[in-house]
Amino acid sequence: MSIDRPPVTPQHYEVLHGGGAEAAEIAKQRYSSRRFLRRSMLAIWGVAAVGSVAGALNLLYPNLAGQFGASLDVGAKSAFKAATPDKFAVNEAGVFYRQQAKTYVVHLAKETHFLLHGTNLSDQLDAETILKDADGSYWIALYQRCVHLGCTVPFRNECLSFKCPCHGSHYNSDGEYLDGPAPRSLDRFAFHFQGGDVVVDTGTLNNKVPHPDATTRLIPVPPLVCV
Ligand code: FES
Repeated sequence: MSIDRPPVTPQHYEVLHGGGAEAAEIAKQRYSSRRFLRRSMLAIWGVAAVGSVAGALNLLYPNLAGQFGASLDVGAKSAFKAATPDKFAVNEAGVFYRQQAKTYVVHLAKETHFLLHGTNLSDQLDAETILKDADGSYWIALYQRCVHLGCTVPFRNECLSFKCPCHGSHYNSDGEYLDGPAPRSLDRFAFHFQGGDVVVDTGTLNNKVPHPDATTRLIPVPPLVCV
């Protein structure tokens, strides 16, 4: 139906062809009807435009509070028992999975044997987003996603390491590359402590930790064959 030309009823026909006071009244109604339709259409277009703008803003600035992509509190520090890599057991000691953050929180005991020392060690810890705590232990927040083609990588207690089930990429307990097709070490998130809790910033990813060599590897290769 056209806005400008609503259907011509018999009464409208009278108006068009001269109908006195009645015709004038019908003409007035017809004008009101046209004006009402115009206003209705404008209102609909207005609502649609506001909805479109709101949708675009939501895409550009999504509200991620409490969701993956935001900073997530994954629990009290005391829930993550530190261990040396030879004692790691998932969700029991050294390595803890937090599904909401898609993260393995790794907590290395202060007795951990590192292959580097002094500034070489501190520089490499910074490069690999590893935080040394006040008690001498070390923390890492590893992204669960395999850097080869994106499968979720489990920690294998019997291997003391992460091994991807898809194509076999293999990563040490601190996320450093061991072998397989992965192009780099596991990615890791920024994180901090807040009121005694561990907060993982799942929107800030360090995806630039290359294959380690003799000058950069932090943790000894586990003395186990992992198949
Ligand atoms: S996706 Fe992990 S090895 Fe291919």
